[in-house]
Amino acid sequence: MKVSVVGAGAVGASCAEYIAIKNFASEVVLVDIKEGYAEGKAMDLMQTASLNGFDTKIVGSTNDYSKTADTDVAVITSGIPRKPGMTREELIGINAGIVKTVSKNLLAHSPNVIIIVVSNPMDTMAYLTHQAIGLPKNRIIGMGGALDSARFKYRLSEALECPASDVDGMVIGGHSDTGMVPLIGRAVRNSILVSEFLSSDRMNQVVEDTKVGGATLTKLLGTSAWYAPGAAVSEMVRAIAQDAQKMFPCSALLEGEYGLNDISIGVPCIIGKNGIEKIVEIELSDAEKEKLTESAVGVRKVNDLL
Ligand code: 2OP
Repeated sequence: MKVSVVGAGAVGASCAEYIAIKNFASEVVLVDIKEGYAEGKAMDLMQTASLNGFDTKIVGSTNDYSKTADTDVAVITSGIPRKPGMTREELIGINAGIVKTVSKNLLAHSPNVIIIVVSNPMDTMAYLTHQAIGLPKNRIIGMGGALDSARFKYRLSEALECPASDVDGMVIGGHSDTGMVPLIGRAVRNSILVSEFLSSDRMNQVVEDTKVGGATLTKLLGTSAWYAPGAAVSEMVRAIAQDAQKMFPCSALLEGEYGLNDISIGVPCIIGKNGIEKIVEIELSDAEKEKLTESAVGVRKVNDLL
């Protein structure tokens, strides 16, 4: 399995590191536009191989896409991250052009590539990628929900004072501070609804803390987070590599699913060797439906800026 990660910044390098450590890919190519940067990160990561026990070959490339030839899965993290106080949507002016160019460069060298889009505003960048290169819709996947769900589980485990491995929950909708839809009514602790353990006020707090999970970290760090985004992407890449048929909430191009058309937004998907194997339509409650529809309105507003 050959993986290319475009953008050797914090998210891209973390993604490459987690992929290497999980040892399911033969090669990871890190690409960046800054002279020598990807090569340096790749070399530094390769010097951990004997320490972290992986055989994956990580190479760097300064904007030479020929090194990405015959990539199976490509991850687009390139573009600018947000600063404290910024919304993800404010990045569109710069990131749209970058994502369009990068996706075309990737496809030019890898006709069978599956692309995972991370750059923000992610749902709109995923939609733009569909428009720019017109791959079959199962081969363009937006990563936001896997990250948001991980933050949801973190907040649930914090509220329940239990290990994160004891909880499960999913976030659908747009990857935005206001548009996310944490499915709190379905969240469980060892198959028991969390409403058995938490007051409605505390559940609402978990929802609100989840929605601003990215902004909270940007305020603390002075830039966007990278460990959890990188880890979330690496799990999606692994599901493709291993044909895991694993469910993630992903930004997928909808053509009528959930009553939505011509939009890429977070919905439950089965991920396997073909990328999005299936969009899973679950029976949403009226309140969940309303929130997803509202979220779609927000994503479309950003799409209209393209
Ligand atoms: C985040 O939420 C970068 O959008 C990503 O941290």
